[in-house]
Amino acid sequence: MLRRENYDSAARGHETRPEKRRDCARQLPDSVQTASAADTEALGAQFAASLRRGDVVLVAGELGAGKTTFVRGACRALGVTVPVTSPTFTIGQRYPAPVPVSHIDLYRTDGLAHEEPDLLADYLGPDAIVFVEWPPAAPWDLAEVGGAARRVRIAHAGGDRRLVEID
Ligand SMILES: Nc1ncnc2c1ncn2[C@@H]1O[C@H](COP(=O)(O)OP(=O)(O)O)[C@@H](O)[C@H]1O
Ligand SMILES: [Mg+2]
Repeated sequence: MLRRENYDSAARGHETRPEKRRDCARQLPDSVQTASAADTEALGAQFAASLRRGDVVLVAGELGAGKTTFVRGACRALGVTVPVTSPTFTIGQRYPAPVPVSHIDLYRTDGLAHEEPDLLADYLGPDAIVFVEWPPAAPWDLAEVGGAARRVRIAHAGGDRRLVEID
């Protein structure tokens, strides 16, 4: 199961340091245009500073939009040193880091509706920061992954430009 109760307690934990989270969020505009993959990685790294153990981040966008690129930048900033690529042959991977990082790719699925919840249990948990690459057509529903915290949407904006929206 998705261990929703763990997320409820993680969410309660957020309330203990509201000022810190607000400060981090204030540094990031809601919507940013990046001009290169390096820009998007740097934005991911900046975003990572606002994350805490137990957070789940849904990253939505078309194939090639830059979801993995954004997650890679965030992972680097979180201390992940191994290569960060889309999990293609498995639904997810887990990277060692000071706070472990999970990386799930649901792009080829229809949200979680057709996935076996136990498959995700290996990657979700209150001990980790979790990134979920999310199919653009799936419902934009954080509740599906258990009281998750943040949403990022990336869209093509011509050439190498991308529009990145962060909630
Ligand atoms: N501004 C940009 N942001 C992110 N990726 C970009 C950008 N411009 C070009 N790219 C390229 O687009 C591709 C994005 O791939 P990837 O991050 O794997 O996308 P997704 O995970 O959304 O399928 C990479 O080849 C990357 O180099
Ligand atoms: Mg990807």
